[in-house]
Amino acid sequence: KAPQAFEVKELGGTPEQEAYMRDIIEQFTVDTNYLNQIRDRFIKEMDKGLEKNGATLAMIPSYVEGRKEEGHFLALDLGGTNLRVVLVTLLGEGKFKTVSSKSRVSDELKIGPMRNLCDYIAECVDTFLTEQGLEDQETELNLGYTFSFPVLQSKINRGILSTWTKGFACTGAAGKDPVLLLQDALLRKHVPVKVSALVNDTVGTLLSNAYNKPDTLAGLILGTGANGAYIEKMSNIKKWKGGKTTSDEMIINMEFGAFDNERKILPLTRFDNKLDRESINPHSQIYEKMISGMYLGEISRNVLTDMIDRELLLKRDEHTSIAWSKDISRHWSFETAFMSNIEADNSKDFTNTKEILDTNLNLHDITTTEAKFIKKICELVGKRAARLAAASIAAIVEHTGVAEKGCDIGIDGSLYEFYPSFEARMYEALEEMLPEIKDLHNTIRLGLARDGSGVGAALTACVAARMEGGK
Ligand code: GLC
Repeated sequence: KAPQAFEVKELGGTPEQEAYMRDIIEQFTVDTNYLNQIRDRFIKEMDKGLEKNGATLAMIPSYVEGRKEEGHFLALDLGGTNLRVVLVTLLGEGKFKTVSSKSRVSDELKIGPMRNLCDYIAECVDTFLTEQGLEDQETELNLGYTFSFPVLQSKINRGILSTWTKGFACTGAAGKDPVLLLQDALLRKHVPVKVSALVNDTVGTLLSNAYNKPDTLAGLILGTGANGAYIEKMSNIKKWKGGKTTSDEMIINMEFGAFDNERKILPLTRFDNKLDRESINPHSQIYEKMISGMYLGEISRNVLTDMIDRELLLKRDEHTSIAWSKDISRHWSFETAFMSNIEADNSKDFTNTKEILDTNLNLHDITTTEAKFIKKICELVGKRAARLAAASIAAIVEHTGVAEKGCDIGIDGSLYEFYPSFEARMYEALEEMLPEIKDLHNTIRLGLARDGSGVGAALTACVAARMEGGK
């Protein structure tokens, strides 16, 4: 308890603020012992998911067996903040070139009819082809569709959307095949493109990382959402009914965002419960809600508004308090990107933090002590996320038994790429959970797999085209 008392004193608040912070620190701290328990449960859940369908961890076979290819391929990435169309030129020997275009998916499209979303996507592909001078292709281009939602695959280019995640809720899509829906829209617009592969972003990330790092074991997304894929032995996939495969390994999309939907182990606080209850998908994606970019800002906001309500923060005269709390009271108004910038602020009097709060949330004249509190809360939420995310890696490492041999893990997503110390905190937690690995940084090599969803989808489209050609 001693270091915590010191941490709280450092913040320099009133006794009431100190008592509150001590409690919050305790609630958001996940120690080594707790992490180990989470990891062990994770491993058990992985086994359950490999054994039968319908488990908490879906552990979805991706139908991707091969890799290492050349040629031009299109990739489409749907599932994060933006929709991206990418032209990937695979040059062989781990090299590739990409050109891409990006557009935002409006909230209206995210929750409207699926047909509208597909029409919009087809239009974006069409515009991109025209921009790249590819609109009059003789042969159709192969497209790898990175559709980053839980899809139960039945072939490399077929699958059924089981449920939406991450704020999407289009009607007429659950229970259907996203490939067919998109292919129809492309046909309606006469876009000369064949959707030849359906890929989860984690699978794409694994593949693109493996394209130049052959010891890649897993691909993770730590961005808007959170999930992982890894290479599994066919003999361990007890539930497999897809017949004989050419390889004895297959990539598994774990859909680990759903880990502990039963709420048996994760250290949920009342702030997490509030977020879950008010989300578009209550009671699901519980682990994702504690570790991914879409939610961290909102968890922090829940703590901040609780402090405000208890008059432990922003206490001014009544008039100012009401004016001030307007923006911070709005759902989702405190973005994870703000946390990222606040955590990066090392200035003595927290100039940047004050500025971020001022320009984005109309919180003027924040005192240095208040800024310290806010930064501390961001740090607690951010650190907990990184440590919990690391538990999934420890589980994959233990499950596959690669601790001695070592492996590469490709990671993509804004949290991993931009959030200060996210990776360092993950390594710290991994060191605690895997003490037997001496040189951890050089054994479990985490690394940014930039544009995993684009390149990986192109690689899969290429595998698919080849499989078809070889028939
Ligand atoms: C959500 C999706 C999953 C995806 C992840 C990262 O968890 O369900 O399919 O991989 O977000 O984008």
